[in-house]
Amino acid sequence: MFFDFSKNGIDDDAFGSLLDLARDRDVEGLRDRMFSGEAINSTEGRAVLHVALRDASGTYRVDGDDVSPGIRAVNGRMASFVEAIHSGTWTGATGKRIRTIVNIGIGGSHLGPQAVATALSPYAHTEIDVRFVSNVDGHDLAGTLAAVNPEETIFLIASKTFTTQETMTNAVSARAWIIDNLGDDAVARHFAALSTNRDAVISFGIDPDNIFEFWDWVGGRYSLWSAIGLSIALAVGWERFSELLAGAHEMDEHFRQAPLEENLPVLMALVGVWNINFLGMKSLSVLPYDQRLRLFPAMLQQLDMESNGKRVGIEGEAVDYPTAPVIFGEAGTNGQHSFHQLLHQGTDVVPADFIVVAEPAHNLGGHQDKLLSHALAQSQALMTGRTLEEADGNPHRVFPGNRPSNTIVLKRLDPRSVGKLIALYEHKVFVQGAIWGINSFDQWGVELGKELAGHLLGEITGERDTKAKDSSTAGLMEVLRSWRS
Ligand code: F6P
Repeated sequence: MFFDFSKNGIDDDAFGSLLDLARDRDVEGLRDRMFSGEAINSTEGRAVLHVALRDASGTYRVDGDDVSPGIRAVNGRMASFVEAIHSGTWTGATGKRIRTIVNIGIGGSHLGPQAVATALSPYAHTEIDVRFVSNVDGHDLAGTLAAVNPEETIFLIASKTFTTQETMTNAVSARAWIIDNLGDDAVARHFAALSTNRDAVISFGIDPDNIFEFWDWVGGRYSLWSAIGLSIALAVGWERFSELLAGAHEMDEHFRQAPLEENLPVLMALVGVWNINFLGMKSLSVLPYDQRLRLFPAMLQQLDMESNGKRVGIEGEAVDYPTAPVIFGEAGTNGQHSFHQLLHQGTDVVPADFIVVAEPAHNLGGHQDKLLSHALAQSQALMTGRTLEEADGNPHRVFPGNRPSNTIVLKRLDPRSVGKLIALYEHKVFVQGAIWGINSFDQWGVELGKELAGHLLGEITGERDTKAKDSSTAGLMEVLRSWRS
């Protein structure tokens, strides 16, 4: 991995001061507390140990207990399950081989697995189709059910809590569909669960032998390395999944050991802090110049914005500086024909992360040369711009330039490099959270909407009329009720 941050407006003084800031905020201390299994997720009283999942031969303790044997045991069961599906020894209720895996989950139980499975598509098992359903909008599940054969399909119900409304709604509908098509007894052959909540899985009716567990010290958006990654392992095989973990572990070791000034996640975090807090640039575009990474912006949105989109510090005091950037992005070159106009000439300066892969996995002549030339041209144009004079006096053709970007270069997109890349971003988010003094590992911001939706559901279904609504919501409710009838 090559990390180029030379297209940023940081001189030696600023760089030195940023490193001092990282030391002042004791980034290294918090990092060591994370690796040692301390409950650094203070509002939920939990350890943050996704790094343990990528180092199954290590020893990690939570509350004095060694968690590594448990990780190894689940990994062993996952490997056997993948083997059974791939070899055809696991069959559906009617004796047919499994050809389709449907992962039902949302947020971290969806975005990471889907992004990684897509990134590693050239490694995918040719006879297994892995699909993802997340939205409570029935069009999502209905579209998938219409395209798959129940006799050859397994549903993975991926939910840390096993209470998330979207996932449970989809799971219930999928179970009804299997029972309608294959009968009650088929559930044991067509459902597995990836969860920390064993009791809820059992009361849902999934065979306890088909539960792949993980633990509360794995945050949802950091869970693709756990049993939540089973869809990835089914797509690319256990060996490739192990390489993904190994790549992430390499980044963990680098993050743990490299001095701050050579530490990639630290450098990336400091560049972000410089742009956000000192230059007032409050968004970040993520621009992977590789079609296989097209879902990375969505995954990184959750990782960064759910982790660091916080307005109070660890002690609950309001912070008086901006925290997480607004993240958006698109695979290059598609974004160039869409929002890059604003990146080059808009009134806001939006820093960019370019992710570039040197060697493609296809052999179509000329494509990669063009793709790479565009990636470099974009960052060059953002930096150098074009003066009025160079634009022949036409202000519409002026590019102010001086717009910062990072470029991450991977030699190839393989399980190891994908693991490293995601771990790089995870630790960047960690370092920024440490500098801002916020808890990057809770997500209370999703709660209020969930609660209100619970109240409004009763009104939508007509079972309740609370009348406790603001006038805008009441008006919208009236329109929806009358239009639906
Ligand atoms: O959006 C809130 C959230 O809790 C995420 O952090 C999490 O990844 C997602 O919901 C899904 O949660 P679960 O895996 O428990 O279904």
